[in-house]
Amino acid sequence: MTDTIVIVGSLNADLVVRTERFPQPGETLHGSDLATLPGGKSANQAVAAGRLGGTVRMVGAVGDDGNGALLRDSVAASGADTTHVAVRTGTATGTAVITVDGRGENTIVISGGANATLTPQDLPDDVFQDAAVLGLCLEVPMDAVLAAARAAHAAGVTVLTNLSPFGAVPPELLDLTDVLLVNEHEAAALGDHGVARSIVTRGGDGSVVHDGDARPVEVPAVPVDAVDTTGCGDAFMGAVALRLAAGDSLVEAARFAAGVGAYAATGAGAQASYPTTAQLEAFLGT
Ligand code: RIB
Ligand code: NA
Repeated sequence: MTDTIVIVGSLNADLVVRTERFPQPGETLHGSDLATLPGGKSANQAVAAGRLGGTVRMVGAVGDDGNGALLRDSVAASGADTTHVAVRTGTATGTAVITVDGRGENTIVISGGANATLTPQDLPDDVFQDAAVLGLCLEVPMDAVLAAARAAHAAGVTVLTNLSPFGAVPPELLDLTDVLLVNEHEAAALGDHGVARSIVTRGGDGSVVHDGDARPVEVPAVPVDAVDTTGCGDAFMGAVALRLAAGDSLVEAARFAAGVGAYAATGAGAQASYPTTAQLEAFLGT
C-alpha cells in the first residue's frame, strides 16, 4: 500500500501554564502549576494521523534529555515510526513556552533546540518509499524543509505544507507544494501564492477549500467550548494528511479534519488531546 504519511519537522516539549488572562508587557501574574506536555507542530501532526490509524513515519531531532524521551514516547505511542527521530547528544530538546487563558486561547514562544539542527542529511534515502503524503511546517531550518519537499516531489508524493510559524517563504517551497495549509492571517501575509490547492483555516469560523478551478468551498467548524486550542491546527493538518493519503478529495479531508480539530480543543495540551477513531466517532455522534 502506498499510503504512508511522512512528517518532517519539529518536536517540542510544551511548558504550559494557565492564567485567567494574558499578562501585559511588564506585568507578572500567578498561573497554574506547570505542565510539561508533548508538542511541536510536526510531532503533533504525526500523532494526530497516527492515533487515527494512519501509517506515519516521523523525521526530526530531539536532545538527549528527558523531554526528548517524552516526545519520542508520545509519537511512538500513536503508532508512528520514530526510527528517524535523531537524538542529539549535548543538545536540548526543542521547547515551547505556552500560556493558555481562560478562553482556551494561547500565546507561544518556541526555542528551537535540537529542531534547529535538522539538516538535509537527516533525510534517509528511502524515506518516501510507499509514501503518499509529506507534511511540512516551518519550525525546522528551511534547507531541511526544502530538501524534503524536493525529494518528495521527485518521488511523486503529495507535499502538504503548513506555513507556520510564518516567516520568509522561498518561492521554491511554494513551487514544490501541492497543498497549502494556512490560517487567514498567513494567507493575507502571503498574498498571491500560485498554489492551486489550499485550505485556509479560520478557527471557529471553519475553513475555505480551494481545489484548482473548482469554486471555493466553505467547510463549517464543529462548535465546541474550547478548553485549550493549542495544537488544534496541527490536529487538523494531521487529519488532512491522513485523508489525502487515503485518497479523499481536499473538501472531504477538510470536513473530516474539522471534527478532529474541534475534538482537540476540548482537552488540555496538544497531543494529549487528540482522538482515536472511536473517540472521534463518539464525539461527533457518528
Ligand atoms: O501548534 C502548536 C504547537 O506549536 C505547540 O505544541 C508548540 O510546541 C508549538 O510548536
Ligand atoms: Na487541546
